Amino acid sequence: MRVLLLGSGGREHALAWKMAQSSMLEELFIAPGNAGTRNHGKNVVLNPTDFPAVKNFVLENEINLVVVGPEEPLVKGIHDYFLSTEEIKHIPVIGPQREAAQLEGSKDFAKQFMFRHNIPTAKYATFTKDTLNQGYAFLESMKPPYVLKADGLAAGKGVLILEDLSEAKKELKSMLADAKFGDASSRVVIEQFLKGIELSVFVLTDGVSYKVLPEAKDYKRIGEGDTGLNTGGMGAISPVPFADPTFLDKIENQIIIPTVKGLRNDGIPYKGFIFFGLINVKGEPYVIEYNCRMGDPETEVVIPRLKSDILDLFEGVASNTLSERDIEFVEKSAATVMMVAGGYPEDYEKGKQIYGLNGITESMVFHAGTSSDGPAVLSAGGRVLTVTSYGKNLEAALQRSYSAIEKIEFEDAYFRKDIGFDVVQS
Ligand code: AMP
Ligand code: GLY
Repeated sequence: MRVLLLGSGGREHALAWKMAQSSMLEELFIAPGNAGTRNHGKNVVLNPTDFPAVKNFVLENEINLVVVGPEEPLVKGIHDYFLSTEEIKHIPVIGPQREAAQLEGSKDFAKQFMFRHNIPTAKYATFTKDTLNQGYAFLESMKPPYVLKADGLAAGKGVLILEDLSEAKKELKSMLADAKFGDASSRVVIEQFLKGIELSVFVLTDGVSYKVLPEAKDYKRIGEGDTGLNTGGMGAISPVPFADPTFLDKIENQIIIPTVKGLRNDGIPYKGFIFFGLINVKGEPYVIEYNCRMGDPETEVVIPRLKSDILDLFEGVASNTLSERDIEFVEKSAATVMMVAGGYPEDYEKGKQIYGLNGITESMVFHAGTSSDGPAVLSAGGRVLTVTSYGKNLEAALQRSYSAIEKIEFEDAYFRKDIGFDVVQS
C-alpha cells in the first residue's frame, strides 16, 4: 500500500512507527510529520486542511490509503471532500466524515446522540446568547461544581469547572455573550458534575463491526499530583488497573455497542477510530466526551500494545470486512512520559536542540513537536517528545521510561515524575 498519514504529533509518530512494520506497506508519506516520523517514511510539506493540495499529492503519488491523525481535517470534512471528488472518491480515508466527526466537533450533538441512544452520560442542557437567562436559572437549579462546555472545538480549553455559582454565571455570560472561545462558545453545554476516575477506550470501526483496542489513562495536568493547568497530556499508561473484565464488559455493552449501532441507526457512516473519554462513577462507566480520532499521548501506549498488522485492520475498515480480521495484543504493559518545553502550556520557547536521543535503546521515543536541522533535532512545540517503554507490569514500564528520559536533554525541559501515581503502587 502507498499510504499518506496526516498530522505531526506523537500520535502520528506512533502510527507511522506501526505502519512501517507492516509487510503490506510499499511507501509511507507523512504530512507534515516531524523529526521522528522521517525515520519511518517520507515527510512532505503539505497542510492537512488544504484539501485540494492533499488531492494533488494523492494523485501524483498514487496513494491508496489516507490515514487522518488529528480532528481538525475530519471536522472540516476531509473524508466528505474525498467522497465528493471524482478522481479520489475511490481512495479510502481512515477517519469519519464531517457529520460523524460532530461527535467531537459539537458537544451538543454528542449529548443529543447519547441521550437518543441511552448511552450513560451526565445530565445536561444547552444554551445560546438568546437563552442566557434560562442558563442562569439552570445553574441555580444545580449543585456545585458547575461544568460549562463550549459547544465547538476550543483547542482543549473549552471546558470550565467552577465551584462558585456567581463565577459560573459570569463565565456563562462571557462564553455566550462575549464569545470567550469565539464561535466555539456560541452554544454552551452545562452539565452535571461526575465524580470518579477517568480512562480512555478506543475502537476501530468500519461502521458495522468494531475492534476494541487496549484501554489507557492519560495525565492531563501540568503539575504532579494532577495539579495546575490542563495540557494536551503529560503521559499515559495501558492497561488501566481498575478496568477489570467486568468494568470493560459494561463499557462494551452500555457504551461501545450502543454507539456503533446508534450511528448506524441514525444513518451516519463511520470509518475510523472512536475515542471514548470515560469516567468510572462507583463502578459504572459514563461518557465524558467522544473524539473522532485517537488520543495523544494515549496512542503512544495503545499502538505499541497492538500486535496485529495495523494496515490489515485499516484495509478491513476500507473494505467493510473488519469483522473478518484478527486483532491481537502484546501482553505487556506500556507507559509513556512526555517531555515538554519549560513554560508549557503557557508561553514557551521553541528551537532548542535535543541531545541524547541516540542513547535510548530500551525505550521508544515518539516525537510530539520536533523539527530537524540537518542531523540535529530541535524542539518545535510545547509537547516535545514522549518516551514509551514496555514492562512486565506498569511499575517496570514506568521505571524504564524514567531511566531513559534522564538521558535526554534540552534547555528548560520539564516532565512529570509521577505518571501512574494514582493507580500504581510505588
Ligand atoms: P472534555 O473536553 O469534555 O473531555 O472535558 C475536559 C475535562 O473536564 C475532562 O477530561 C474531565 O476531567 C472534566 N470533565 C468534563 N466533563 C465533566 C463532568 N461532567 N464531570 C466531571 N468532570 C468533567
Ligand atoms: N489525550 C487526550 C486527547 O488526545 O484529547
